[in-house]
Amino acid sequence: MKRLLLAAALAAVAIPAAAQDSYPDRPITIVVPFAAGGPTDTVTRLIAEPMSAELGQQIVVQNTAGAGGTLAAGEVAVAAPDGYTVLMHHIGMSTAPGLYASLPYDPLVDFKTIGLVTEVPMTIVGRKDFEPNTLQELSDYVKANADAVTYANAGVGAASQLCGLLFMQAVGAKVTEVPYQGTGPALTDLVGGQVDFMCDQTTNTTEQIKAGAIKAYAITSPERNPALPDLPTTAEGGLPDLDVSIWHGLYVPKDTPDEIVQKLTAALKTALADPTVNERFAELGTTTVSDDLSTPEAHTERLSSQIELWKGVFESAGVQPQ
Ligand code: MLT
Repeated sequence: MKRLLLAAALAAVAIPAAAQDSYPDRPITIVVPFAAGGPTDTVTRLIAEPMSAELGQQIVVQNTAGAGGTLAAGEVAVAAPDGYTVLMHHIGMSTAPGLYASLPYDPLVDFKTIGLVTEVPMTIVGRKDFEPNTLQELSDYVKANADAVTYANAGVGAASQLCGLLFMQAVGAKVTEVPYQGTGPALTDLVGGQVDFMCDQTTNTTEQIKAGAIKAYAITSPERNPALPDLPTTAEGGLPDLDVSIWHGLYVPKDTPDEIVQKLTAALKTALADPTVNERFAELGTTTVSDDLSTPEAHTERLSSQIELWKGVFESAGVQPQ
């Protein structure tokens, strides 16, 4: 009997091992937790092509938007741990634990990290006919007209919501928030003049700013960005504490075999070294991370330190988890 049980246990181990060797032998899905056409989607589609070439398999990008990115994260947390369902997420993976009273997943327990992908600054932008012309004027205007002003974001847990929260705190005002499934559709409405202002990643806003379709007030990085050299930093505009950079990373469900994680990390590294990817990221004001950061170890370290950081920021600002 004991021998039979041992044989059964060995067989159970042998099947996944074979699957790991042949991985990937069918298309891989990367789940994007926001709407198509937004910054997370753009980053994902740019790296998907070289990753797919390296892995020798098709990569399908699937947009599962909702609940500020937490819906998709919850779904991937319980997906089959076979490497065929991968999550692309950003800083929201670290802010959600401080913003939601109960999340259906624990970012540090329910996933394995593959590696960091990008660092992306944000821009504070308004509809092109919005009265304020500078960050100082925007701050004053928002304070004086808080009841009438609308701010677009991608829901609680989104980068745009985080940046808006920090902006409202910095100026001491609370405006009406208009949530979208992602900042792709939110930006469309900003261009159309349906909302007043928002804060969004350069990946999404650079081309619209350059085309004059929206008004830009500031970039949320300590230095100006080469893609938008005329845009002042938040510090130059009088809000030195509004300094936020959005980082993206790839995740798989926690029981995914390490061999599969290694293959995905190797493919990610190939994508991040691709000159076409880097050229496009630079045009959009974004950078790929350095080679030492596109590893599971560096990614886990970033995730865990950022969870602590943002929990502390929210607690000291009196933000109540919902
Ligand atoms: C998106 O891809 O739509 C954005 O990353 C949403 C956000 O976090 O603001």
